[in-house]
Amino acid sequence: MSALLELRGLNVFYGAFHSVHGVDISCREGEVLSLIGANGAGKSSTLRAIIGQVPRVTGEIRFAGEDISRRTTPERISSGIALVPEGRQLFPNLTIEENLKIGGYTGQKGSIGLAEVYEIFPALSERRKQLARLLSGGQQQMVAIGRALMMNPRLLLCDEISLGLSPKIIAEIYEVLPRIRDHGVSMILVEQDIARALSASDHVACMLEGRISLAGPSSEVSREQIAASYFGE
Ligand SMILES: Nc1ncnc2c1ncn2[C@@H]1O[C@H](COP(=O)(O)OP(=O)(O)OP(=O)(O)O)[C@@H](O)[C@H]1O
Ligand SMILES: [Mg+2]
Repeated sequence: MSALLELRGLNVFYGAFHSVHGVDISCREGEVLSLIGANGAGKSSTLRAIIGQVPRVTGEIRFAGEDISRRTTPERISSGIALVPEGRQLFPNLTIEENLKIGGYTGQKGSIGLAEVYEIFPALSERRKQLARLLSGGQQQMVAIGRALMMNPRLLLCDEISLGLSPKIIAEIYEVLPRIRDHGVSMILVEQDIARALSASDHVACMLEGRISLAGPSSEVSREQIAASYFGE
C-alpha cells in the first residue's frame, strides 16, 4: 500500500538554527502514527512543516502521491490535511459552535459536519452556545479537535492533545479516536505520554534532537528501545 503522507529527508530551519534533520516518516491511509520524543525533539516542527507553518524547509513532503512542499497552508488544508495545534488556539470570545464553524469554512466538503462532531463529542453539543474561554481544558481540546474535523481531513495532525489535562479527560479524548478513524481519517499523534501513544497507534516514530531515533510497529517496540531512543541513553 502506498503512503498517504511521506516525508523524505525533511529539514526545518528557524533562521540559522537547524531544528529537524533529514527526517523520513510515512503514514499510510487509515493508519494512526504516534510521534513521540522529549521536549525540543522537533515534533511540533515536523507537524508544522507538514501543514506549511515553518519559515524554511527542505526535503520532500508527499501527500496522496504529490509533492506538497511548495504549497501554501490553505492549499494543504484543501488537499486534506488538518492540524490540531499545540495549545489549542481557539477564539476565546466565540462560542463552541462558532469555533467549529470556522473549521468548516476551510478544508474540504465531506461526511463530517456539526452533527457528526457533536455525535463524537456529546459534551460539546450540550454547550454549543458557550464561549470557548469559559470551557474546561478538556472541553477546549474537544473543540480544537472538532474544528479540525470540520475541515474533513484525510490526515489529522494532533499536537499533544493530552497536555495539561487530567488522566480521566485524556482517557475520554483517546476513547473517541477510533470513531474519528471510522470516518476514514488517518492520524499523526504527537504525544509525550508514551504508554498512551503506543496503545493508540499502529506505528510509532521517536524523535531525538531533531532526528528519528526509532520507528516501528507500536506493538513490537520494547520499553527498553523506547527509553533508549527517547533519552538517547
Ligand atoms: N519559532 C521558533 N524559532 C526558533 N526556534 C524554534 C522555534 N520553534 C521551535 N524551535 C526550536 O526547535 C527545536 C524543536 O522544537 P519543537 O517545538 O519542534 O520541539 P517539540 O518536540 O515539539 O518539543 P515540545 O515537546 O517542547 O513541544 C527546539 O530546539 C526549539 O527551541
Ligand atoms: Mg511541541
